[in-house]
Amino acid sequence: MSTKTIRDLTPAELHGKRALVRVDFNVPLDEAGQVADDTRITAALPTINTLLDGGASVVLLAHFGRPKGAPEAKYSLAPVAARLEALLPRPVHFLDVTVGERAVDATRTLAAGEVLLLENTRFLPGEEKNDEALARQLAQLGDFYVNDAFGAAHRAHASTAGVAKFCRPAVAGLLMEKELAYLGGALADPQRPFVAILGGSKISGKIDVVEALLPKVDKLLIGGAMACTFFKAMGFETGNSLVEPDRLDMAKDLLARAGDKLVLPVDATIAPAMDAATQATAVPREAIPAGQAMFDIGPVSVTQYRALVESAKTVLWNGPMGVFEKPPFDAGTRGVAEAMAKATANGATTIIGGGDSAAAVAEAGLEAQMSHVSTGGGASLEFLEGKDLPGVSALDGR
Ligand code: 3PG
Repeated sequence: MSTKTIRDLTPAELHGKRALVRVDFNVPLDEAGQVADDTRITAALPTINTLLDGGASVVLLAHFGRPKGAPEAKYSLAPVAARLEALLPRPVHFLDVTVGERAVDATRTLAAGEVLLLENTRFLPGEEKNDEALARQLAQLGDFYVNDAFGAAHRAHASTAGVAKFCRPAVAGLLMEKELAYLGGALADPQRPFVAILGGSKISGKIDVVEALLPKVDKLLIGGAMACTFFKAMGFETGNSLVEPDRLDMAKDLLARAGDKLVLPVDATIAPAMDAATQATAVPREAIPAGQAMFDIGPVSVTQYRALVESAKTVLWNGPMGVFEKPPFDAGTRGVAEAMAKATANGATTIIGGGDSAAAVAEAGLEAQMSHVSTGGGASLEFLEGKDLPGVSALDGR
């Protein structure tokens, strides 16, 4: 069964109605308290505009940061309202509460075509507990519910899951639909060769996704410090590299089972410390000396990974290849990003699984050259692991 979306709503279900829309506006702020990266806000615009064009008014719910169930000025959504207003561009009302009489009144006085952003859902103690009483209160804020917050869809919270029971129809927004189509499409019916690249520091955080992807991919390329746990499991010296000793058996087992599907770096860019970039050198993976640590995949590996990515028809990437914030340890991550851009130009479907890899692609200025850059970090990882996303399963099916 697939999930219903706002496209399935009839004109009568939209016109003159209050659309209660959960968005993921969890964006970084700069030192002046202004939105530093509005990617997630921009990504919600198609849904907001479609609803407004259909004659609905739009009531937006969002979380921001991790306040502990009580208001905290630094986690107010007010700066986000200002940026949304500039991007739409049309007036956005902002209210400093989320539920209750004032909030419900504000939704009822909205005219068709108007937008209201309510204060941070995580200021409410019931939000993260998926409290039913709160879900019922939230449901009073709209005539139907739309979840467009893919980035928060792995959270079973009152505004992402509970509310859908009491505010119906409950459907997906266009961003949610697009995320599920790209990520789900890659898993269900990939064009081959299908190459996945997984990076990051710890194998423990990625093991579920490795297990879920291995049967589906043609090649699984490993990068980041997590490669070092594999190196150690292969019997190599890893110096001061980050290794998870309690995952060595897991790594050995994977190496034995995966055969040549699992591709590890053949060399490493190392240095005595992360801050000693000027002393960076490349060595074969079996020659990492004591007193040095791996901070990126090496140049030979970059060339190999590039070739595999460029000849693929579906590419999925999650997690950097090295410490990409610190040149020269960005070479692996940059190489993968560039190869993916080439693969897109060659007709491949290229998908960036959010989080750090999305940041790296943005920094390389290559966002527009990917088929899809997910707005969800944790959510895309859980989806790729095959886990149920509560924010999606709460919605109506078709
Ligand atoms: C994110 O930034 O990944 C989402 O908005 C979810 O935020 P959370 O990890 O605080 O739930």
